[in-house]
Amino acid sequence: MIHFDGTRALETDRLILRKMCLDDTQSVFDHWLSDERVSDHRVSPAHKTVVDTKMRMEKIVNGYDSNEFYYWGIVLKDGNDLIGEIDLYNFDPSTGNCEVSYSIGYDWWNKGYGTETLKAVVEFAFIHMNVHKLSAVHNTDHPASGRIMEKAGMKQEGVIRHMTRNAKGEFKDCAVYGMLREDYVGQKGGDT
Ligand SMILES: CC(C)(COP(=O)(O)OP(=O)(O)OC[C@H]1O[C@@H](n2cnc3c(N)ncnc32)[C@H](O)[C@@H]1OP(=O)(O)O)[C@@H](O)C(=O)NCCC(=O)NCCS
Repeated sequence: MIHFDGTRALETDRLILRKMCLDDTQSVFDHWLSDERVSDHRVSPAHKTVVDTKMRMEKIVNGYDSNEFYYWGIVLKDGNDLIGEIDLYNFDPSTGNCEVSYSIGYDWWNKGYGTETLKAVVEFAFIHMNVHKLSAVHNTDHPASGRIMEKAGMKQEGVIRHMTRNAKGEFKDCAVYGMLREDYVGQKGGDT
């Protein structure tokens, strides 16, 4: 059974993962949500105005009222920039499974931050929350996302053709990745 006690701050070598707040709105808009280089790999379109972002941020901040809401802003320890977001969602009480999704602002790509973030949330999901299985999906034309899943210990389970359609109307083939709690414990040598 999943242990739900809400979003809490996590720390890695270079990052703090923390709850988001309304004061983050402009950074979220500027750093990734308004940027098609990021949104082209997601289902939701890039935001055209910061008002769109403010409405989304209000939903996130209200979401923290629930212990079953897990949504982190990713902050650089060095300089305090908010560089991205990661969330756990689609919790299934019958299986104990859930999904993870994430975005990092384009200016910070390929510096290892995505991997560092995902590893921290994978550990939190399996060890703290007792999630049974974690899944994620990425567009096959954006292999960097699959790479960070692999580096976090997830395995590709298949490719689903035309699984999604982006805001530009383009169909996307998606690779589905998964990891069981027992995989995670096995990789850690059973010391969890
Ligand atoms: C996926 C994403 C979070 C990666 O973040 P990141 O901070 O750049 O990730 P990292 O730097 O930790 O790792 C990127 C890896 O991809 C690799 N990579 C980059 N471009 C690549 C490409 N075109 N083909 C194959 N691998 C690629 C990098 O070399 C690196 O792997 P390495 O460490 O083995 O060299 C970021 O690209 C992003 O926000 N994308 C848009 C949103 C998205 O796709 N979300 C996933 C859907 S849930």
